[in-house]
Amino acid sequence: MNEKLIRCFEEAAGEYVSGERLSRELGISRTAVWKRIRKLEEEGYVFQSSTRLGYRLVSGPQRLRVDALLARLSGTGFEHAVQVLESVDSTQNAAHEALLAGAPEGALVFAEAQTEGRGRLGRAWYSPPGKGIYMSFILKPDVPLALAPQMTLLIAVALCRAIRKETGADATIKWPNDILIGGRKVSGILVETMLEADAVKAMVAGVGITANVREEEFPEELRPRATSLLEATGRPTEREALVGAFFEQFAQLYALYKTDGFAPIRSLWEALSSTLHGRVAITTAQGVVTGAAEGITDEGALVVREDDGRLRKLYSGDVAAPAPSSGGGSGRTG
Ligand code: BTN
Repeated sequence: MNEKLIRCFEEAAGEYVSGERLSRELGISRTAVWKRIRKLEEEGYVFQSSTRLGYRLVSGPQRLRVDALLARLSGTGFEHAVQVLESVDSTQNAAHEALLAGAPEGALVFAEAQTEGRGRLGRAWYSPPGKGIYMSFILKPDVPLALAPQMTLLIAVALCRAIRKETGADATIKWPNDILIGGRKVSGILVETMLEADAVKAMVAGVGITANVREEEFPEELRPRATSLLEATGRPTEREALVGAFFEQFAQLYALYKTDGFAPIRSLWEALSSTLHGRVAITTAQGVVTGAAEGITDEGALVVREDDGRLRKLYSGDVAAPAPSSGGGSGRTG
């Protein structure tokens, strides 16, 4: 039955096919057609739907191919130990295991799906099969622990530049680790740091990019604040090309960081940031801080000038929608 459905779309060669026609040709109800399309989406097919025109097949399931990835990664330093897993709890766990087994800097793990993808602050990362980029890689930078957060900012710059270059979308960075398009999150970064006697022994850097997910496929609770590259650009993203673009950017910035330090990365981050130069309301463990976001420090802290003029350095928190401009007095609560 699915083969027949797919054949209908293939015959339409990328044009819309009405729900009514599909229902007639398959001899099933329109609701049953809709359910089958949802099922195919879970397998990695990408459709567009229109209440007027019906459904259009945008792309079939695409697998990440190791040889194609290796060609894209050539010369970046990330082409020597690449694994592509079909499904894993979290690529972070797989990379931690590789690290314990002696994997070098540059080892890289991808998965087509994650059953327990994780984000910052213990949140889950939505990881449907074949529709996103879920990857973790090992870094062994020679930095003191206090400067470890710089890596998240460096990765954010590489990611933002790669998304802009590859898709043309107007991606920006929301402090500390989100990439937004049109104010909605399309990608996140999670850097986990391993210590040895207070020094950074290694980092496992995880990047999730929501590539080819349609709005209707997102879990309802994510819909208001999440988007995908497909939704933002109207086109499916070729994941291998985007991976290549990311590591090309990352390799350049990492080399620059090693020679010139954090200052040039900070300038690039500030230029791409949607958090700076405006009012912010930031939820921290101590309460909400409101004020003007003025910059970031070398430790990756966000510098906020509160409404009473005091400067606050925030090391972690969630930036909410811009706070209304101050009428005087402190906006800090809690
Ligand atoms: C965040 O936005 O809070 C960070 C999200 C990081 C998600 C990626 S997906 C690949 C890697 N594996 C995980 O379990 N998490 C990261």
